[in-house]
Amino acid sequence: MLIHSASQLLTLAGGPQRGQALGTLGIIEDGAVLIRDGKIADVGRSSDLRATWPDEPALDAGGRVVLPGFVDPHTHAIWAGDRAAEFEMKLAGVSYLEILAQGGGIISTVRATRRASIEALQAQTRPRLRRMFAHGTTTVEIKTGYGLQTSTELRLLKAILQLDQLEPLDIVPTFLGAHAIAPEYKERPQEYVQLIVHTMLPLLRAWWETHAPGRPLPFVDVFCETGAFTLEQSRQILETARKLGFPLKIHADEFDNIGGAALAAELGAASADHLVKTSAADIAALARSETVAVGLPGTPFGLAECAYTPAQAIISADGYLALASDCNPGTAWNESMQFIIALACRYMKITPAQAIAAATINAAHALRLADRIGSLEIGKQADLLILDIPDYRHLGYRFGGNLVHTVIKKGRVYPVHKLLADETWN
Ligand code: NIG
Ligand code: FE
Repeated sequence: MLIHSASQLLTLAGGPQRGQALGTLGIIEDGAVLIRDGKIADVGRSSDLRATWPDEPALDAGGRVVLPGFVDPHTHAIWAGDRAAEFEMKLAGVSYLEILAQGGGIISTVRATRRASIEALQAQTRPRLRRMFAHGTTTVEIKTGYGLQTSTELRLLKAILQLDQLEPLDIVPTFLGAHAIAPEYKERPQEYVQLIVHTMLPLLRAWWETHAPGRPLPFVDVFCETGAFTLEQSRQILETARKLGFPLKIHADEFDNIGGAALAAELGAASADHLVKTSAADIAALARSETVAVGLPGTPFGLAECAYTPAQAIISADGYLALASDCNPGTAWNESMQFIIALACRYMKITPAQAIAAATINAAHALRLADRIGSLEIGKQADLLILDIPDYRHLGYRFGGNLVHTVIKKGRVYPVHKLLADETWN
């Protein structure tokens, strides 16, 4: 199939973009892309590609913008129940960490999730994934973390792996048994850390061999934060995970600067995420590493807070910046990377071009998948979007709706109006 007549074809070619290189879109005007067997087989000007491939079935992009599918490298998209009542408490001035300390917050979602069957969890998650897909996310990371006990954490992982089979988007799993101190261990948190280190992680390693043979190991993530896991506990968990061969991620500096970002850099984590309160020294440590800094602007927005990830500091330090939705029931129930781009432009003070690179090739790097997805280059997976806009800057500039006209996933074409008309879709 030859997709042609894109007003602008954003290739994002050349690999992950560090520092000032962020925002290199690789624009081809009147662009075209050839897709064969679910992969990209050629990229160039429409006139050239139509001359080279005259008999290829054509899809006319009609002067719209074509770019790689969005990669959302940080979500908690699988959970049961909701926290609408807590939203009102937060608006009335009770803080996120206060609610967590009172046994609400993450723990309230844990109570609902532990009670939910795998079928119920999947039924509640599927509409979220479909909204993500219809809004242009073609690969999404999903974390466990609302079980905080071995059985439920593994049930969540199993549900995630099955959803990956059932849904058109690709799902990358992350084990977040260290999302909060399990309620049973409230008074003896170190024992919960020991449970993760001595039982959950080794068990997960063995479980993976039988439940996902041949599939790369999931990421292991820790919520390194005041009221969750200390820096020392985070180190213990991540070092154990690393020894077992798991790739790493971390939640760092969402509310307090306790050193998680530097730990991520030291341990070679794929990404350090949130980074709202990160010190200049920790930003410098990240920037010297391959660890991607992932900004989640939906989270301060969702919490009605004013501080956002300091994107310009990360860029000046020469770090990798990516964006993600953090889709979760407590701080940011939002499935749209388009909205994340709009927030990032305004509150993280980056340009639409920088935000687009952060939501595609750099987001792919945060999942260590930049060799397969995140750009339109020969040999890569054919995951792309046709946006109903004439110029890429409409991304960011416009917000609150859906600019996606067509999603193409592994070469399969999904017009958005058809997705939305499908009654089984929602
Ligand atoms: O990334 N910070 C920790 N985890 C989520 C929130 C999860 C929740 O509140 O349920 C986050 O913001
Ligand atoms: Fe998160």
